[in-house]
Amino acid sequence: MSYVKALKCRECGQEYEKTAKYVCEFCFGPLEAAYDYEKIKKDISREKIASRSLNIWRYRELLPVEGTNYNTLEEGYTPLIKADRLGRELGMTNLYVKNDCANPTHSFKDRVVAVASTRALELGFDTLACASTGNLANSVAAYGARAGMKRYVFIPSNLEKGKVIGALIYDPNLIGVNGNYDEVNRLCSEVAGKYKWAFVNINMRPYYSEGSKTLAFETAEQLGWKAPDQVVVPVASGSLLTKIWKGNQEFMKVGLIPEKKIRVFAAQASGCSPVTTAFKSKTDTFRPVKPNTIAKSLAIGNPADGYYALRTIAETNGGAEMASDPEIVEGIKLLARTEGIFAETAGGVTIACLKKLAESGALNKDAVTVAYITGTGLKTQEAVADHLKSVTVIQPNMEAFEAAHLVPA
Ligand SMILES: Cc1ncc(COP(=O)(O)O)c(C=O)c1O
Ligand SMILES: [Zn+2]
Repeated sequence: MSYVKALKCRECGQEYEKTAKYVCEFCFGPLEAAYDYEKIKKDISREKIASRSLNIWRYRELLPVEGTNYNTLEEGYTPLIKADRLGRELGMTNLYVKNDCANPTHSFKDRVVAVASTRALELGFDTLACASTGNLANSVAAYGARAGMKRYVFIPSNLEKGKVIGALIYDPNLIGVNGNYDEVNRLCSEVAGKYKWAFVNINMRPYYSEGSKTLAFETAEQLGWKAPDQVVVPVASGSLLTKIWKGNQEFMKVGLIPEKKIRVFAAQASGCSPVTTAFKSKTDTFRPVKPNTIAKSLAIGNPADGYYALRTIAETNGGAEMASDPEIVEGIKLLARTEGIFAETAGGVTIACLKKLAESGALNKDAVTVAYITGTGLKTQEAVADHLKSVTVIQPNMEAFEAAHLVPA
């Protein structure tokens, strides 16, 4: 039994059946899952959630699947770390890091793919597909394998080795397209029109995108059933940012956490910053860009949910920042050195932007702040490899160790 009444157009409100449909026939607006919140409010409670397994399905009433036959690898309930050491460096007194590297394929994409693949199985699909900037490829390949589905995964051909091997190991059909993500996505829209496949981020997008809300749900639960004051979120398509906001609103609406105004901040790379650039130039019209950044996972020049991300930032009195490639590398190193977390380039973007937003005063330094670290550094090692101290190689004896002068005299 599901609490989703229908798929509903975000623009004109037209309702549709809960099939693999993603765009409104009347106005071309995106479709979104519409829930019966009154009913959820009656049925859900903190105690009920707390009694369930530590994965995203503990919030099942607010996820768009019908049954309980989940396609799961135990995604979610990742650590929320109080980041005091990093906070001290940035002058922040109430900083947390949500470490979503701790997912089955080491990025937050496992949340969205768990939901999309579960719904795809419910709708009778036998093939799982996606257009990916890297992490989604890993996740679709793994969750498709877990479900025994056929898998078609499309990526830009120039991705990092860790992302390519991290997909290939699950034996999908991996298609490297000679072009950037926006070109991969255009091709996939055509393919999705022709073949009866579940493209998680195209025709399954209304279900897929809902999975990101679980990051907000967990954060609130882990903070002791309250929302943070401000969040910093990496942005590619803009879906994650809008859904973190939506997740918080839903928790308030069904009475699980007290009402609060949350400020939402976007983090992008300077080499691909359509959302941040639009925000800073105070316009709501996007100029699509050709990405050029080491943060390949965020390299979407024409973001599908960019408009909604921008609106969320503006309406919550939030903000947006961007980070250059050297700043991204410094961000990765800063998080690793202070908190022991090795993030990928998207995490470098988040930490670099967090630093800038704190320094500029855009962020309140004493408010409860959560920075979302959405993927692991082990997949993007080439980004930092040339920026680290080297190994001290010695002969296996005490004289050699002491001659290396690693211990202060
Ligand atoms: C590690 C990481 N963080 C953040 C994002 C941004 O997600 P969205 O496209 O929902 O904005 C992505 C997207 O691929 C990603 O791989
Ligand atoms: Zn419409």
